Amino acid sequence: MSDAAHWDRRYGEGEENLSWHQESPTVSLGLLDRLEAGDASVLDVGGGVSALAEALLARGTDDVTVLDLSAAAVEALRTKVGADERLTLIAHDLLTWDPPRTYGVWHDRAVLHFLTDDADRDRYRAALDRATAPGSGVVLGVFAPDGPEQCSGLPVRRHDAEELAALLGPGFDLVETRREEHCTPSGAVQPFTWIAARRR
Ligand SMILES: C[S@@+](CC[C@H](N)C(=O)[O-])C[C@H]1O[C@@H](n2cnc3c(N)ncnc32)[C@H](O)[C@@H]1O
Repeated sequence: MSDAAHWDRRYGEGEENLSWHQESPTVSLGLLDRLEAGDASVLDVGGGVSALAEALLARGTDDVTVLDLSAAAVEALRTKVGADERLTLIAHDLLTWDPPRTYGVWHDRAVLHFLTDDADRDRYRAALDRATAPGSGVVLGVFAPDGPEQCSGLPVRRHDAEELAALLGPGFDLVETRREEHCTPSGAVQPFTWIAARRR
């Protein structure tokens, strides 16, 4: 699943043609508000060229990190946002990344669902544990049980809110769950499950 070339090719097609493209990260921002994240530092894993980083910077968050497997995505985001010392960009595979610090919020829209293999999910969970601290928020968004079986041509594991909460386990308090019907640029509807939680 950690195929950087696949993602580089997808980002080469142009942002507006990507099925996951959205003009505004409305659900993400709403869940950050529910977590009362304020100006807490945010790590967006698999952030691609999402508008979330720009939206956070515009809201005054002065510590935003976007990590993505695709160097093409990271460069496209760098070009889009422009020089901003408040933004850290990291081109790396999340599953082999050793977080150098902790963050106020771990945000993931549509990366976790590619992890169909239990060993990869364990790696994801280990990175999340290292990148968060007691009090950190976690926002996860993945395809819902009635969502598509594939994303970007790759198989996905679909989740309901209970499964996402179980992945985090008893060390996290669930703050909110949401269902979103994402409308792709071509007009398809993709149901998402979201949760917001806080580490104890
Ligand atoms: C469906 S896209 C979602 C992008 C972004 N979160 C958004 O909402 O626009 C999935 C993203 O995850 C990235 N990705 C896939 N596997 C990854 C991995 N192992 N480590 C880091 N990023 C990964 C891809 O490059 C891509 O940018």
